[in-house]
Amino acid sequence: MNRKTILRIALGSLLGAVGTWGAQAALTFNNTVTGEVLDLSHGLPEGRDTPAVKTFLETGNNPYNENASCLPVGAEIFLSACSGCHGHVAEGKIGPGLNDDYWTYPKNTTDKGLFETVFGGAQGQMGPQYGSLSLNDILLVMAWVRHVYTGPPGGAEWLSEDQRRAFKPYSSARVETAQAPAEPGQCRAAVN
Ligand code: HEC
Repeated sequence: MNRKTILRIALGSLLGAVGTWGAQAALTFNNTVTGEVLDLSHGLPEGRDTPAVKTFLETGNNPYNENASCLPVGAEIFLSACSGCHGHVAEGKIGPGLNDDYWTYPKNTTDKGLFETVFGGAQGQMGPQYGSLSLNDILLVMAWVRHVYTGPPGGAEWLSEDQRRAFKPYSSARVETAQAPAEPGQCRAAVN
């Protein structure tokens, strides 16, 4: 093998490695209505490199789903940013219900799709939320939206199999516990 061939092979495997890494590191996120690629750098500067955000950007799965210590934080965000339009427990108001298994945009059954809708908005009153909620806040509020789901567990595509087995459709009897303040440090530790 001459030096040129060795060099070519070395270069080839290097480029191959970079290509694979690039594909894994960056999922592409698209606007729910237009399909345009969303530029996540438009998001707020804070809350963009938490462990949960990093995992989500690589896998498309929200690590806060069914994380009991973080649900109260998500509930608070929901009450201030979403419930005015979507109802107290996402039962629907001027915006559609988010707690059943009917979705205008079927991709919202995935965490990636739901994130795209919340970050980039949809039609009419459903404006993009990236200017007011950090990436981490969006994941926290998404976990709460998933938690108040009342439909059949089979429709809860965002849950892992284990989570789906343990999942109990939301009932108001659980509101009290769920809205108790987070144990000091617990969710915060995951957030920061
Ligand atoms: C000013 C009112 C308003 C606010 C605030 C608002 N929404 Fe919406 N939302 C709407 C409307 C209206 C629609 C229907 C838009 C459409 O069909 O394109 C919608 C649609 C959605 C959808 C798509 C539902 C489906 O069936 O596919 C999701 C998900 C959603 N909103 C989540 C949220 C979350 C989470 C928040 C808080 C961070 C929020 N929205 C805040 C009005 C609002």
